[in-house]
Amino acid sequence: MTSNLDFAQVTKSFTDAKTGTTVTAVDGMTFSIAAGERVAVVGPSGCGKSTILNMASGLYQPTRGEVLIDGRPVTAPRPEVGFMLQKDLLLPWRSIVENVEFGLEERPLSKADRRKRALEELTRMQLGEFADSYPHQLSGGMRQRAALARTLAIDPEVVLLDEPFSALDAQTKLILQRHFARTLARSGVTCVLITHDLNEAVIMADRVIVLSGRPGRVIDDFRIELDEPVDPLTRKFDPASAVYARRLFDLLHLGDDDEMVA
Ligand SMILES: Nc1ncnc2c1ncn2[C@@H]1O[C@H](COP(=O)(O)OP(=O)(O)OP(=O)(O)O)[C@@H](O)[C@H]1O
Ligand SMILES: [Mg+2]
Repeated sequence: MTSNLDFAQVTKSFTDAKTGTTVTAVDGMTFSIAAGERVAVVGPSGCGKSTILNMASGLYQPTRGEVLIDGRPVTAPRPEVGFMLQKDLLLPWRSIVENVEFGLEERPLSKADRRKRALEELTRMQLGEFADSYPHQLSGGMRQRAALARTLAIDPEVVLLDEPFSALDAQTKLILQRHFARTLARSGVTCVLITHDLNEAVIMADRVIVLSGRPGRVIDDFRIELDEPVDPLTRKFDPASAVYARRLFDLLHLGDDDEMVA
């Protein structure tokens, strides 16, 4: 089972209780993601990408408009939605395997089955031998992998990922991108991937939504059509990838002087 995700005229503003100053992070955002689609969201720093994910995961409510999963407004986190926030939220007092088990605790699984499922996902992330370590004993990239394992362990219908591969070295990044792409293809899960890496957007997604600077608005939304549908490595070396990446660089004015690098 997979689910669709809709943003309908969504605006999100934050008001500072002390000063009364209001910042509009996202303004009038409308898009529709079909069940099973893999969509990358790119845009300059501070344009509201994490805010979008926080609303889709039910952690924030929109100021105006609606966020819907399968046509139902998202008012709180839902068990079928796996999300990995930008800062990894591993619980420091739980071991790595216990962290991965966390999302499984609401499922009707025996303790042994829960452990088995968590270890399976950790092994896929090449973290099997660190199952009994604690978050502070892992490197940043390892913690990121553990958080990704926790997100995938629940076999979600929708996954929301905020820069999941950003703290990884190039080699580990490619290994995990391939594993992740295969997992998505196998399960047909709907995916929203936020990334600063425009090449990653092209090799990991079927579609890219491009946002303006704050307040974030959709400035482009297009499909990525490469001969290889899944494998990021093959997609990376397809010359057509460079054409899509160039389009993104141009949209975000990354070739211009004095622009802040996104
Ligand atoms: N909880 C919050 N309280 C107040 N302001 C917030 C909150 N969350 C986000 N903002 C503001 O909303 C704007 C968008 O922030 P957001 O984190 O969504 O940006 P982003 O696109 O994810 O940036 P980055 O690429 O740097 O991660 C920023 O101006 C930020 O200060
Ligand atoms: Mg962010």
